[in-house]
Amino acid sequence: MKDPAVQIEQLSEELRHHEHQYYVLDAPEIADAEYDALMRRLQALETQHPELLTPDSPTQRVGGKPREGFIKVPHSSPLLSLDNALNEAELRDFDRRVRDLLGGAEYRYVTELKLDGLSMAAHYRDGKFTQAITRGDGTVGEDVTENARTIRSLPLRVKSGLTAFEVRGETVMSRRAFERLNAERDAKGLSRFANPRNAAAGSLRLLEPRLTAERRLEYYTYFLLTEGRPAFDSHWRSLEELRHLGFQVNPHSKICRTIDEVFELCNAWEGKREELPYDIDGVVVKVDSVEQQRQLGFTAKAPRWAIAYKYPARQATTTVEAIEVQVGRTGALTPVACLKPVEVGGVTVSRATLHNEDEIERLGLQIGDEVVVERSGDVIPKVVRISSQGCYRKAFRLPSHCPVCGSKVVREAGEAASRCINANCPARLKESLLHFASRGVMNIDGMGEALVDQLVDRGTVRNVADLYDLTLADLVNLERMGVKSAGNVIRNIDRSRQSPLPRVITSLGIRFVGERTAVFLAEAFGSMVAIEHASLEELQLAEEVGPKVAEAVVQYFSEPGNRDLVGRLLKAGLQFTYASSRPKAGPLQGKTLVVTGTLPTLSRDQAKQLIEQAGGKVSGAVSKKTSYVVVGEDAGSKLAKARELGICTLTEDELRALAEG
Ligand code: IVH
Repeated sequence: MKDPAVQIEQLSEELRHHEHQYYVLDAPEIADAEYDALMRRLQALETQHPELLTPDSPTQRVGGKPREGFIKVPHSSPLLSLDNALNEAELRDFDRRVRDLLGGAEYRYVTELKLDGLSMAAHYRDGKFTQAITRGDGTVGEDVTENARTIRSLPLRVKSGLTAFEVRGETVMSRRAFERLNAERDAKGLSRFANPRNAAAGSLRLLEPRLTAERRLEYYTYFLLTEGRPAFDSHWRSLEELRHLGFQVNPHSKICRTIDEVFELCNAWEGKREELPYDIDGVVVKVDSVEQQRQLGFTAKAPRWAIAYKYPARQATTTVEAIEVQVGRTGALTPVACLKPVEVGGVTVSRATLHNEDEIERLGLQIGDEVVVERSGDVIPKVVRISSQGCYRKAFRLPSHCPVCGSKVVREAGEAASRCINANCPARLKESLLHFASRGVMNIDGMGEALVDQLVDRGTVRNVADLYDLTLADLVNLERMGVKSAGNVIRNIDRSRQSPLPRVITSLGIRFVGERTAVFLAEAFGSMVAIEHASLEELQLAEEVGPKVAEAVVQYFSEPGNRDLVGRLLKAGLQFTYASSRPKAGPLQGKTLVVTGTLPTLSRDQAKQLIEQAGGKVSGAVSKKTSYVVVGEDAGSKLAKARELGICTLTEDELRALAEG
């Protein structure tokens, strides 16, 4: 066996060579799978010899070498833009022109949602993805191949009879991914992206593909071309073929035979656009027949065979009359703009979030300024930019003391949010109670703002555990609370004791621990006590739990006040254990062990705990399904059975070594 240091150096050198060939020169010499296998061998060696791990090892850079810039590449044929129809009359004008130019021939339209993203061309040769180019100025774009490779909906290999083809489509970021990204940026003290489109554009042009990979972009295709021209004689047929090849095609595309049908569809989507997971700004209408497209031709900038029916922007201009500060569950102070009420897309808006101090600075906003506000999707309205500075404007500063309890406000280094440091701040408590009682968490119906305000203001409830001590008598005398509704609330509180552990974990309001992470924590540890005592490293064994989340969990449980609270919730009868439906992660995952005889140092219970903590199961009887039998002194029939079945036996030391991985 070669010296591990030499092996690691050779493997690293080999990987670096291939990385260069693949990422920098675009000339791979080995298959992806071989590359992955080499990478796994190196990872395994480094795990066995952590002292030999260096920061410049290829294993420390998943996603490859950052680029220095993007190369400009010409498109096979121009990526044109579209003329817009801003109302019904303009849409009908478009249809009239089409009809006239086609001289009475029959025609039909394909309608597609106009996704609000960036167009991108992707090239394939011999069934393999080779290059992705941004729209750029329509004639020349930028080579973003490595970043595009991280987009999971862009197939890297396809089974096609065509030797070379090109697809064109829209790169978008879902509103959910956008909100998550901005929340992460807030936590890191970075500026926010104004909308999903900007976030998608920024993500596609990152110099480090590894970062693009984290951004969860999506790609929806709408053109299939060979040598810059449509591959089929009907647009609809191209969409079908794209789908067949494994590309993502928007499922809401339709064939429409009349302009009435088109208009109806445009109207229907305007009302439903909030239900979509991504932003759209209209509907694209295309003549289906490629031959008819050719007859209709192009103007200088856009095809005559297509039009974008655009929805009016959900923006309006109004004045910022004041800036208020709200205190959230984590104590974070959020500035909120109080606006002169204005209608935005059918809804009157009088408040818009400003997120944090940095955002106000980025906007250059002062009280009295006229601003553009925007509603997009179901998110809270936001201030997009200043449209004109007010004559009498006043700068805003976040208060140095909490507007609710008067405690000091601090902004930790590297954080965008300023927080009230008082853990018992009534504003924080109210938000915590509302979070605790909300759907998806403890689901206590009837525990709304009016009730929470009264309970906190009267001092009846000082933390969430107090809810479980409430009696009918505490509630009946409150405003807007009859005997019947009070009884319902008490019953709902009682019922919430049955909420499973993941919900209890979510209810604690630990930073970064939402419903999904709570499930992973419950799955991995099986009990609140185990989570409370887990170390930073152990916590990260749970799925999707990284250093940031682990740190937040450890920090939460390091607060004596929080530990008391959790203790009281246990006493109140909440669910603190979880029968996981999935096996625990660990070196003994999927293994069944039997312990027999007296072990030198471990008791039976301790041995069981060790095995279970390493993800293994303990069984009382030896069978064919047993993976190992741990043997101590005076082992009897179980050892004999193990020998008979040829099952591997372990000493206590060997068990420890295995369990440690
Ligand atoms: S077709 C020659 N189809 O809208 C036709 N564009 O205003 C060119 N877009 O640059 C575009 N969804 O970024 C087409 N289903 C769709 C689209 C779409 C979004 C964007 C695209 C284009 C812009 C045109």
